[in-house]
Amino acid sequence: MLAIRRLEKSFVLRRGGAAVRVLAGIDLEIGDGEFFCLLGASGCGKTTLLNILAGFETASAGALLLDGVPITRAGRDRVVFFQNADAALFPWLTAEENVGFGLRIQGLDRARRAPVVERFLKLVGLWDDRQKFPRQLSGGMKQRIQIARALAIDPAILLMDEPFAALDAITRRLMHTELLRIWAATGKTVVFVTHDVSEALVLADRVGVMTRGPNAGLKAVLPIPLPRPRDPGNPRFGETFARVEALLLPEAQSG
Ligand SMILES: Nc1ncnc2c1ncn2[C@@H]1O[C@H](COP(=O)(O)OP(=O)(O)O)[C@@H](O)[C@H]1O
Ligand SMILES: [Mg+2]
Repeated sequence: MLAIRRLEKSFVLRRGGAAVRVLAGIDLEIGDGEFFCLLGASGCGKTTLLNILAGFETASAGALLLDGVPITRAGRDRVVFFQNADAALFPWLTAEENVGFGLRIQGLDRARRAPVVERFLKLVGLWDDRQKFPRQLSGGMKQRIQIARALAIDPAILLMDEPFAALDAITRRLMHTELLRIWAATGKTVVFVTHDVSEALVLADRVGVMTRGPNAGLKAVLPIPLPRPRDPGNPRFGETFARVEALLLPEAQSG
């Protein structure tokens, strides 16, 4: 279980300048195997929080525990999934080499990498495309390669920061279905950041709505008891959407 306790983060923008507190007093527990969406307006501090969970940034105050052990730096137990697959994948490696890359740097030889790479390429439906290079794959396929690579190193937690924001609407929908299928098949904990209410409601077990920054916190954490697959056309989906949007709208930056 991931526990975030009274977490704060301040940035000093200029040497000698005053610190700006971006996050103030975040308290949250995310259970093993849970799909948690962090929903907030642009600039409220979602990426900052995810980077702290990843261990890329340190908290200014508070604690962050994974199964009771403090998180202080990046680790194999948490993997970050990047929005831009082109920046995340190595263009000179094939799909299967990209998926096996994390295992290679862990020191596994080809024979030990092969079955893991096969399993996850099949899981994301790209086994037949294993010898293609990223430039030969569509945006959605590249994202699936990135998912396979993340899963291959067997992390407990997948941290995703607006991962599908750059995809077209149809591919994005397909990726949601794909991600939910993979999540159900692997039982990973997912922390997924988005500013899109509909995306959060299609995916999440629970949605954490953030307040606007600075001093951003969690305004509400809502369980989403709708059965999956979720249909945005369903009246209950519509009601939930309206409720969540009403929480989020006052937090949007007014410029
Ligand atoms: N490294 C940094 N140094 C200074 N300020 C930062 C840094 N990273 C983020 N910020 C500020 O923190 C706030 C939250 O940013 P961010 O976490 O990227 O928001 P979001 O992902 O919700 O759009 C913004 O005001 C941003 O300018
Ligand atoms: Mg962000």
